[in-house]
Amino acid sequence: MPAAIITHEHGGSDAGPAPLHDFSTNASPLPAPPALLDALLGADRSRYPDPAYTALREQLGAAEGVSAARVLPASGGAEAIRRLSLAALLCGLRQVWVPQPGFGDYAAAASALGLQLHPYEHLDQVCEGLLRWQAPALVWVCDPCNPTGESPARADWLALDAALAETHSPLVLDQAYEPLRLNGASELPPALAARCWRLVCPNKALALTGVRAAYLLAPENDVIGLFAHARRLAPSWVLSAEGCALLMHWHSESTQAHLRQLRPRLSAWRDTQHHMLSQLNWQQRDSSTPFWLARPPQDSEGLLSGLRTRGIKLRDARSFGLAGWLRLSTQTPASQLALLNALQELSTR
Ligand SMILES: Cc1ncc(COP(=O)(O)O)c(C=O)c1O
Repeated sequence: MPAAIITHEHGGSDAGPAPLHDFSTNASPLPAPPALLDALLGADRSRYPDPAYTALREQLGAAEGVSAARVLPASGGAEAIRRLSLAALLCGLRQVWVPQPGFGDYAAAASALGLQLHPYEHLDQVCEGLLRWQAPALVWVCDPCNPTGESPARADWLALDAALAETHSPLVLDQAYEPLRLNGASELPPALAARCWRLVCPNKALALTGVRAAYLLAPENDVIGLFAHARRLAPSWVLSAEGCALLMHWHSESTQAHLRQLRPRLSAWRDTQHHMLSQLNWQQRDSSTPFWLARPPQDSEGLLSGLRTRGIKLRDARSFGLAGWLRLSTQTPASQLALLNALQELSTR
């Protein structure tokens, strides 16, 4: 029998039947706007995309206010994370700082390459470690962070900026959930924003996680020369025709209008879902995103399997190092009612 393929734990789809109510995914519960869906369906699959993605990079660069030469298309954030980690290794870096709790792929990519992993809970630890070792390291920050929905404060960013500059360490800012930020704003200082790498993954906000597409924006001062490696490591036609269509429409007025309308709706739904769980004595952490960490009063493993057999999925936070906790995303009022009914039924058994 072939050995099982080991994958990292993620929310969303698994090998089982698609959940009827998926609170385990961080993707928006609202479908993508019609113009974008039309563009995906109209993507020309009969030929390869331009291998240099010239028009796409020009459009993304113009929308982001950077030169097209600094835009690197990727077949999803996960692919970009792998590629930058390998680029860092090829540049001679041996150490990687990853948020804990945080998206597991940063650590998975570093471990697969034999890089020395430093999980951090707070940016203070990164600053202290960088300054102590005085060696360049790859630093990942996710703002707002998956799974907490938290963001660093301005003072933390400033301290990090100084430590990065002193040690010539590259920062990669994962902005996968910036379009889904429901309250507050990033406190990233503009000067550091210009000096860091940025990873943009639009498929979550667009409820199109099955389309594998994202992009990296390289900083002007690429201190250790990551860019040349990251570009050379990209497979030919890294982005499919559909991926290209999605990114081409990311900054369109209709897509951005959709996002502006989506956020207040999600925010109202998040409040009702949060209130519902408070009434059921769940402990819940504050978050600026539609997803957050919560701890049910009962055994979380038994609860997850009881819900799953009822077509409802939540994300176990054990792989984030948080046993007993769950991550759940905001879902529609109909899904919230289904969750409430299932929780009540399970508590009376
Ligand atoms: C923080 C973060 N970054 C990146 C990704 C990768 O997303 P994708 O590969 O779909 O672009 C995810 C997926 O869940 C994520 O949570």
